Amino acid sequence: AEDGYELWLRYERLDQVPKAAPHSVVAACSDVSPTLDAALSEISRASASMLGQPLKQSGKISRNALVLASGACGTSLPDGALPTVDQVGPEGYVLQSTRINGKPVTLIAAQSDAGVLYGVFDYLRRMSSGDAVADLDVTSRPKTKLRLLNHWDNLDRHVERGYSGQSIWDWHRLPGYVDPRYTDYARANASIGINGTSLTNVNSDATVLTPPYLEKVAAIANVLRPYGIKVYLTARFSAPMELGGLPTADPLDPAVQAWWQAKTDEIYDYVPDFGGFLVKANSEGQPGPQDYGRSHAEGANMLARAVAPHGGVVMWRAFVYSAEEPEDRVKQAYTEFVPLDGQFADNVLVQVKNGPLDFQPREPFHPLFGAMPETPLMIELQITKEYLGFSTHLAYLGTLWEEVLSADTHAEGEGTTVASVVDGEAHDYAYTGMAGVSNIGTDRNWAGSIFDQANWYAFGRLAWNPDASAEDIAREWVKQTFSRKPEIVNEITAIMMKSREAVVDYMTPLGLTHLMGTGHHYGPAPWVDDLGRADWTPYYYHKATRDGIGFDRTENGSDAVDQYAGPIAQEWASLDTVPDNLLLWFHHVPWDYEMRDGSTLWQSLVAHYSRGIATVEEMQAEWASLKGQIDPERFNQVTDYLKIQHEEAQWWRDASIAYWQSINDLPLPEGEAPPP
Ligand code: GCU
Repeated sequence: AEDGYELWLRYERLDQVPKAAPHSVVAACSDVSPTLDAALSEISRASASMLGQPLKQSGKISRNALVLASGACGTSLPDGALPTVDQVGPEGYVLQSTRINGKPVTLIAAQSDAGVLYGVFDYLRRMSSGDAVADLDVTSRPKTKLRLLNHWDNLDRHVERGYSGQSIWDWHRLPGYVDPRYTDYARANASIGINGTSLTNVNSDATVLTPPYLEKVAAIANVLRPYGIKVYLTARFSAPMELGGLPTADPLDPAVQAWWQAKTDEIYDYVPDFGGFLVKANSEGQPGPQDYGRSHAEGANMLARAVAPHGGVVMWRAFVYSAEEPEDRVKQAYTEFVPLDGQFADNVLVQVKNGPLDFQPREPFHPLFGAMPETPLMIELQITKEYLGFSTHLAYLGTLWEEVLSADTHAEGEGTTVASVVDGEAHDYAYTGMAGVSNIGTDRNWAGSIFDQANWYAFGRLAWNPDASAEDIAREWVKQTFSRKPEIVNEITAIMMKSREAVVDYMTPLGLTHLMGTGHHYGPAPWVDDLGRADWTPYYYHKATRDGIGFDRTENGSDAVDQYAGPIAQEWASLDTVPDNLLLWFHHVPWDYEMRDGSTLWQSLVAHYSRGIATVEEMQAEWASLKGQIDPERFNQVTDYLKIQHEEAQWWRDASIAYWQSINDLPLPEGEAPPP
């Protein structure tokens, strides 16, 4: 059934067998590891599906063979036939149309077997996209080392901010029953280069660190290992008290340090290649080192020492802000972390959300990027759409992430993009990485909607290459997911490319943020002004009065703009140069403020809401035009979801406008339909 279970690995039958399609596959290795086995079985599955029969595995290289070889597998290739693979690093690969023993072959070569597996997925992606597989000369090397999903999954299988069913981690039945779905999860992730997964919610208690759960974790790790994926766990900072019965979790207390060392050693007994810890500390009520007057660095370093002998890392989140702190929430992480630059142990990465607030449909890049040259900063993106309409609204996030990654921090002069910070180029980081908050659940289609699969896909592709184009990624995904026909690919890619801006338009245009319903974050609630916590209150963010709207973050206000490098700070601080799409993030302006196009702010705001709806209508019409060309099951679901999105875009517009009018008393701009 076309229920989306196969994700982008559908391997639809090719109309024509491509020129240079292989006739057999050879693992030219004396040692066929589980990773190479995984590669071979993927080739077999994909070729059966695309070519009509599985490629035959052979021990000997004949004409048109697909040959797999790595430096690690005890290659049996004739002397000189393994190309140099120094340039691809431990995870990259080479795809080459070449000759071995005079016979034309396609060679997939790497240093490691994981590299071969990635090369195989690249090769199959080309074939599945209908691209040529002749005359290949490809070298690919991931630009970041750690490419992780972060599951926000609780042990009771509730997924925090999850909109696609329950957690796929079936803790109750593990380790005795290992759901075959974990293998498909591993295949999907390996196919886009993801090499790590943190299994538990950043807000979890410490239960997962107890032996009965470590046994279950080990069972998952065993399935993921052949696919090059390491398991990570969240470490609740107070675990020494909760599990160890210690009176304190002070990171400088020797008994606490000894507890973590013993716990960590125990974890490695279960999972010898355990990746390390992900920690949310002193953030939104979670325990942390500051409870004992210690710094984030002191807390992180204690855990880092425990994992270091095993080669593990600590990913310490910078998502910190506190209700008691009078400073503008978006400034607090920078204020706390920049002074700690240089104090973190070598195997600590600080994990920073893309923006300084919280995964909004649009916010400026986080000012920490570029500001911590001595500390490896990972970027954390949210694949699950907490603030962008959950799983029913179609919003392709590739464009959002591309916007952030290509933003220029100016930290080391012009051209210091966020991508160049994240991939280590700007500051020569020893570790680099990207984390994506997973949108995966038990729904048959994994992600809650077909189009949300594209966000998982795009995350992996951007983690491999943060400079990749969101549009290229969209096309690639569409070809594998829906169709290779150029008209269809163009149509669907066009829908995806405008989808996120539509959401910005109907939810939070012109730099507005955090106006979603309290707690659940679904639907509009800009009128909420009495939550008791300013930093969770929509009013705090829009500050609309009869006189105007927007958050003044210039030197006359919170001066958050000053956390950015000079040229950026200047650009955003001035009304003359701030881009329209960040206007109300940085400035408070009157309702009749004159925009660049001559309209007033009020007119422009209303026009954005209406444009958001109009864009959704276009998306609906474009999708409808594909009727008959997409299988009914997926076609109908997307159609229904778009209808929900359309109704809710209207809801956002009407509710927002009615609320602003209750404050500014202005009539609707001419030509605008009144809210019902
Ligand atoms: C958001 C989200 C929380 C999450 C938090 C985090 O605030 O709403 O559910 O725990 O981010 O990233 O830690």
